Amino acid sequence: MEFKAARTVMGRPIYCSHFFYVDNLLIDSGPHNVSSEVTTVLKTLPINKVAITHHHEDHTGNCQLIQKELGIPIYAHPETIRIMADPPKFQNYRRFMWGDLPYASAYPLDNVINTERYRLQVIHTPGHSTDHVSFFEPTNGWLFCGDLYLGEKLTSFMAGENIVDHLTSLQKAIALSPKTLFCGLKGRLEDAEERLQRKLDCWWEIGCRVKELYEADSNRKEIMDRVFGGEVLFYYFSQSNWGRRFMLDSIIDNLSFFNADHKKNPLRDLA
Ligand SMILES: [Fe+2]
Repeated sequence: MEFKAARTVMGRPIYCSHFFYVDNLLIDSGPHNVSSEVTTVLKTLPINKVAITHHHEDHTGNCQLIQKELGIPIYAHPETIRIMADPPKFQNYRRFMWGDLPYASAYPLDNVINTERYRLQVIHTPGHSTDHVSFFEPTNGWLFCGDLYLGEKLTSFMAGENIVDHLTSLQKAIALSPKTLFCGLKGRLEDAEERLQRKLDCWWEIGCRVKELYEADSNRKEIMDRVFGGEVLFYYFSQSNWGRRFMLDSIIDNLSFFNADHKKNPLRDLA
């Protein structure tokens, strides 16, 4: 079962957050600004535990409410647990889009999550955030991937995202040969392995292009204009929290990663 939540402006959704229910397990909890709707729906389901992909408030915003209303355990990466216990104050755009993150407690994830019918592997997939995990069900090829995917041609990062971790996590996910993605932004998507590969290829090409220009003595602004077509307007609305410059900076900080050997097998080369 898939849940879809969004802030609307003039009746139109501006960013959809998806969370999922499978075999009595809830994966992520949705943003807090839809808490009353979430409560109403979740009370009708026999949920017995929650697993969280990462700490961002559109994935964790209803954890406190679930604990109070349903009294069931929540499992998360240790870093997610630390942040949920003492949530930071978010930028205005995040509070508008998703609401606050009320504090909540959770237990550390094990390597697997067992439900009655399924055995989900917990895969650490950092890049979008350091605490990001995905859940893989090998029998059906399901990959509950939080914000690992989001789309294939994104060229903006949140502050702090890491391109090397991103690419390595994509490679790790591709190695599982997943069939179906359950994405935090786009919901259920087939052709999972191909989608992840196309995203990896797209970002790899961007990284190599930045490296080429940087080594030809182009300055940062020139690279931004030539590779990215300039900064996105949303950078200024986001109080400098989300933009192309964060992707560019992460590539420049990791130029040595963009060589042919890493493209062949980044997991081996980073081991
Ligand atoms: Fe996120």
